[in-house]
Amino acid sequence: MAEQLATNVKWHDHTVTKAERARLNGHKGAVLWFTGLSGCGKSTVANTVDHLLYAQGRHSYVLDGDNIRMGLNKNLTFSAEDRVENIRRIGEVAKLFTHAGNFTLAAFVSPYQADRDKVRALLSPGEFIEIYVNASLETCERRDPKGLYKKARAGELKGFTGIDDPYEAPQKPELVLDADNNGIDALAHEVMTYLEKNGYFQV
Ligand code: ADX
Repeated sequence: MAEQLATNVKWHDHTVTKAERARLNGHKGAVLWFTGLSGCGKSTVANTVDHLLYAQGRHSYVLDGDNIRMGLNKNLTFSAEDRVENIRRIGEVAKLFTHAGNFTLAAFVSPYQADRDKVRALLSPGEFIEIYVNASLETCERRDPKGLYKKARAGELKGFTGIDDPYEAPQKPELVLDADNNGIDALAHEVMTYLEKNGYFQV
């Protein structure tokens, strides 16, 4: 965990409560944390779920690895240390979005279980939904939407997740999506069904 370096700071409680925001929105807030190899479909599924939620008049927002690394986290590399910091910052941002009452769709490789667990620990029970977008390395490499696997195999890109950098599959995810054998729409509907069945659309 990052050390508290700022001194003389005091926590201010919010006047509007979580329950009040949920009542206003007509649904609870939660983090939907999509983890998986590069090219497994995390961002595409997250964006499809976002669109389905939007169409139902619900509040949601996607936080995506590539995008965040071009802004808030542009000063971080793919070293083990920087990947930890990447996920720590995203976890804090996801917590803020969720406390604001949103479904926060976070799509990050997030290769280390310990980091995902730390984000879970930032949130209340039920507020962190770990979703393993499970596509095999073979599938991701065959799709290779950004040509990065090719580069990694050629030795032009070092420390690429799944090739010469580790990926720790979730140990106890709330949801596993079989992205080898299903299309994006089917996977997105599985996520929507999970939210429905587990009472997220009720206040
Ligand atoms: S994480 O490991 O720190 O969680 P993050 O999700 O933010 O990764 O970013 C992953 C995206 O960055 C990948 O989808 C890919 O497009 C790109 N990328 C570039 N270099 C690497 C690398 N060495 N390992 C994994 N992804 C990389």
